[in-house]
Amino acid sequence: MTTVLAIDQGTSATKAIVVDAGGEVLGLAELPVRPSYLPGGGVEQDPRELLDSVLDAGRQAVARAGVPVDAVTLANQGETVLAWDPATGTPLSPAVVWQDRRSEGICTELGGSAEHIAATTGLVLDPYFSAPKMAWLRRNVTREGVVTTSDSWIVHHLTGEFVTDVATASRSLVTRLDDGEWDPELLELFGLGTEPLPRIVSSDEVAGHTSAFGGHVPVAGLVVDQQAALLAENCLRAGEAKCTFGTGAFLLANTGASAARSTAGLAASIAWRVRGETSYCFDGQVYTAASAVRWLQDLGLVRTAADLDAVAAGDAEGVLCVPALAGLAAPWWRPDARASFSGMTLSTGPGHLVLAVLEGIAAQVAELGDLVAADLGRPLTRLRVDGGLTRSRVLMQAVADLMRIRIDVYPSQHATPMGAVALARTALDPSLSLQDAVNAWEPSTTYEPRWSADRAADFRSRWRDAVATALTQEA
Ligand code: G3P
Repeated sequence: MTTVLAIDQGTSATKAIVVDAGGEVLGLAELPVRPSYLPGGGVEQDPRELLDSVLDAGRQAVARAGVPVDAVTLANQGETVLAWDPATGTPLSPAVVWQDRRSEGICTELGGSAEHIAATTGLVLDPYFSAPKMAWLRRNVTREGVVTTSDSWIVHHLTGEFVTDVATASRSLVTRLDDGEWDPELLELFGLGTEPLPRIVSSDEVAGHTSAFGGHVPVAGLVVDQQAALLAENCLRAGEAKCTFGTGAFLLANTGASAARSTAGLAASIAWRVRGETSYCFDGQVYTAASAVRWLQDLGLVRTAADLDAVAAGDAEGVLCVPALAGLAAPWWRPDARASFSGMTLSTGPGHLVLAVLEGIAAQVAELGDLVAADLGRPLTRLRVDGGLTRSRVLMQAVADLMRIRIDVYPSQHATPMGAVALARTALDPSLSLQDAVNAWEPSTTYEPRWSADRAADFRSRWRDAVATALTQEA
């Protein structure tokens, strides 16, 4: 019988759940973590707050479960980096969050190598990924210690090991997509050639042992949060896709066992490596989803995310929003893009603006769905969704209306930690197949498209025009 503590260290919160062998959640704790937004596109977190939230949430979940755990697993933000002292574990910099765009200049400098980088890594040269931010930290903050993604630092505190996992490494711009190993030439290109680098572990590997949550138990099943949700939502076959509506919204499609590159402008990375078999995925990104909602809250347009549907107008009456509050990713890859509202009149009220933001997020997700379809050579017929913003019926209906496919909502708020649990189980039981490690699920809610094809096409064409206009505006 295996009880697993899964910790999902995300951008806005750290969630910990204790899950028993049957997949039942025995204990849960969630603690907020608050990024700081700085002028010039900086987004930072306090590394100590991240680590404390991991320890506190994990301990609270175990206490609430009232049983000891047999293993610990960690899902991480993917591309958030920091410098730290490997001798003491002390942070030497803030955590530079994946949304941070201050390494845009480094990406511009390396622009001549963008094609080579894309061919090697499957990724687009953009500040979103880890290596530009690591290089930025080295140039601007400190040359001391090591510079890694946040998972390596947290796992080091838990186990003393110096590791990252193959999916997280594949988000760096300095690993090869084909074999998931560090690439010396690319490391050199980013000025990271002499950096001590963490050992890359497989998704079904025991990375070390920890006593941080009681007992002395293996830490296994390390993974990027998005890939974890892809797994939990049972997207195990090529072409199966999910979108997680968290701080950002991330649409991932499993692409199977071959390291396919996107020709449509998506990122390609490793989904997981289990029993020596690597699975790959395409991913598209909406950099600000819950972030955009939090911005609406900060402006006082909604009190909490739970109020979105009550405040949103029934019709936006021509108001459009491009919610590019932290730049635009696939397929535009414009870190300098700014958000915009258009089509406002004197009768425009908060409800129109709120609906326009939700429809803008949905429109971006619909664009990503089209890119995935172009890459796969066939349309998506169904999208599985999870994350806090799936509670907004208005947003989910807009996604169904604009994508014109069925939207199936994952029945709990725990897709990411459940995916990490599945990977931990494969590490602890070598006879367990990945398919058997994932719990079957039925959608809690399904949304079918209500808009006509013409209405959806008209909206999307006007929204694309709004993006084109936003991209011509000077920052
Ligand atoms: O790539 C960043 C992403 O994985 C962060 O996820 O859930 O914190 O929005 P989340």
